[in-house]
Amino acid sequence: MPTENTILDFRSDTVTQPGAAMRQVMAQAEVGDDVMEEDPTVRRLEERAAEICGRQAALFVPSGTMANLIGLGLHCGRGDEAIMERRTHSFAHEVGGGAALLGIVFSVLDSQDGILTPAQVRAAIRAHDIHEPISKLLVVENTVNLAGGRVVSLAQMQALHELAKERNLRLHMDGARIFNAAVASGVPVARYAQLVDTLSFCLSKGLGCPVGSLVVGDQKAMKRARGLRKMLGGGMRQAGVLAACGLYALEHHIERLADDHQCAKELAQQLQAALDHRFQVQEPESNILLVHTDKQATTETTLAEWKQKGILALPLSDTTIRLVTHLDLPTGAAAETGRRLGKPAKRD
Ligand SMILES: Cc1ncc(COP(=O)(O)O)c(C=O)c1O
Repeated sequence: MPTENTILDFRSDTVTQPGAAMRQVMAQAEVGDDVMEEDPTVRRLEERAAEICGRQAALFVPSGTMANLIGLGLHCGRGDEAIMERRTHSFAHEVGGGAALLGIVFSVLDSQDGILTPAQVRAAIRAHDIHEPISKLLVVENTVNLAGGRVVSLAQMQALHELAKERNLRLHMDGARIFNAAVASGVPVARYAQLVDTLSFCLSKGLGCPVGSLVVGDQKAMKRARGLRKMLGGGMRQAGVLAACGLYALEHHIERLADDHQCAKELAQQLQAALDHRFQVQEPESNILLVHTDKQATTETTLAEWKQKGILALPLSDTTIRLVTHLDLPTGAAAETGRRLGKPAKRD
């Protein structure tokens, strides 16, 4: 239970720290040089990730950003086009790496909820015309971070998969939070993974690891992915100490994501009760909660006031605040947030 001095850090699910059990598996991990494919713990993690996803192979990479870059690079050559929603992390928050490093053309489309419809994608696919780039790839994020952790349903994915197959588009899923999507929707990760050419997921978000992501797909693609990872500077040596955390998290930290989702729901109720008409609390579908505000000044002053009360969150835009629930929040964090927001800020 939080005391009144406990900092409630809702900035991201990346702020978690490895607990004692995770540190212990790190200390005991068997390691080797992974660039030489000699790290047994990394191998076990890759095999386990492939197994959970029901795919042939997986590759351990340092970050979600690199996992997505590899996904882009596997499916697009220089000048090829990747289609995605405007808020997709690959376009919005990865420093334009796909364009800068791989020469990929981004075609971004707007939607209400962060999820494109097949009709939108169909309309965006270019005819083969000598003047135009070739549409090669569709990127789908699940859950959609910047849309408030929205879950792409199996039916939506199935429809996008059918279209991609029909129009010869490759499909990459940025599943940084695919385990949140799976727990929230009850759809096993393997069902989503069957519908895409490549899937990436992060260990370092809701799963609570210090570092790491995986790219999953068929054997041939993962062999090429290994080369791309090296080219991007992501070849790691005794990475088994990190992979051990991943193995631990895949065993112990998936089911408990339901607690984070429940906490986000309770937090939404507390915020709805505590905030006035200038705020609109978006109903969370997983572990991300958005609060829309009337103007930039409201966002800034609200975040500053919350900070005074030991509640940390991030601005997602001038008029949107994001709160993320995760395994390092104390039990009762939502109720404590409500209690603190009902009281005046402490004076310095
Ligand atoms: C949806 C999504 N994809 C990819 C990433 C990138 O992960 P990383 O910070 O490990 O590069 C993030 C990080 O927040 C994310 O939210």
